[in-house]
Amino acid sequence: MFQRLREDIACILERDPAARSAWEVLTCYPGLHALVLHRFAHGCWVRGFKWLGRFTSHVARFLTGIEIHPGATIGRRVFIDHGMGIVIGEMAEIGDECTIYQGVTLGGTSLVKGAKRHPTLGRGVIVGANASVLGGFTVGEGARVGSSAVVTKPVPAGATAVGNPARVIEAKGDARREEAAARMGFSAFSAYGVAQGDDPVAMAMKGLIDNASSHEHQIALLWQAITKLSEAQRKDCVPAGAQHDEHFDGAELARLVK
Ligand SMILES: CC(C)(COP(=O)(O)OP(=O)(O)OC[C@H]1O[C@@H](n2cnc3c(N)ncnc32)[C@H](O)[C@@H]1OP(=O)(O)O)[C@@H](O)C(=O)NCCC(=O)NCCS
Repeated sequence: MFQRLREDIACILERDPAARSAWEVLTCYPGLHALVLHRFAHGCWVRGFKWLGRFTSHVARFLTGIEIHPGATIGRRVFIDHGMGIVIGEMAEIGDECTIYQGVTLGGTSLVKGAKRHPTLGRGVIVGANASVLGGFTVGEGARVGSSAVVTKPVPAGATAVGNPARVIEAKGDARREEAAARMGFSAFSAYGVAQGDDPVAMAMKGLIDNASSHEHQIALLWQAITKLSEAQRKDCVPAGAQHDEHFDGAELARLVK
């Protein structure tokens, strides 16, 4: 029990820049209190002491503003920040290392008893403030749900879902960028593990790759048009000096920036 508590405190100190000491975390973090009480409530629930589980959950809600159904399954090193207004349903499953902010609902849209009504969050998922994740689907490992998003469909691992109804951003853009980066000889771009949103150089690279990739696409379309025109007019419409096989020299750029 103390091992789990130490782990919870350590993960809060790691993830909350405002946390200053273990004592402060232990005494002033409602998310931690809610999780500790939930462990007791869940223990009662699975051993058949349903009322005691519900009552403990009710007391925890009264003390912390966080309502976790005693049937919910919560992994290790989960961080509930601020917490006020959070509702976590009976069938919800929260993987290890998840972070959940205030006002989040992990709820259902169906009233069918016994069905998996509430979502499963994979390992390391972050759910932003006031987001609602509604239904018995999975939010994949490492995915992020933006604040105030309303998610009603599965979210792929590593993706970011925002808006109401939520749409996945980044995942498509990232895949496209990875492909373009690999074509340009920058296949190690994401392997650096840089959080692109934090590093201005990475942001600049991201912009350059998107821009170069869009130019390549436009040029390919122009070549298609020129080839069609040449065929239609039965003469060579290619401007003098134009090179069809000229491509971005990633190796040369990599050599220059080394
Ligand atoms: C979703 C989130 C994780 C995205 O972070 P990111 O990857 O850095 O994304 P960006 O800021 O680059 O934004 C990407 C796009 O998504 C949009 N976006 C970001 N967060 C959004 C949100 N919550 N709702 C709607 N759109 C959002 C941005 O406007 C941007 O759109 P654009 O491409 O048209 O300009 C982040 O914005 C978020 O909501 N985090 C939760 C934070 C939180 O709840 N904090 C509580 C602290 S108390």
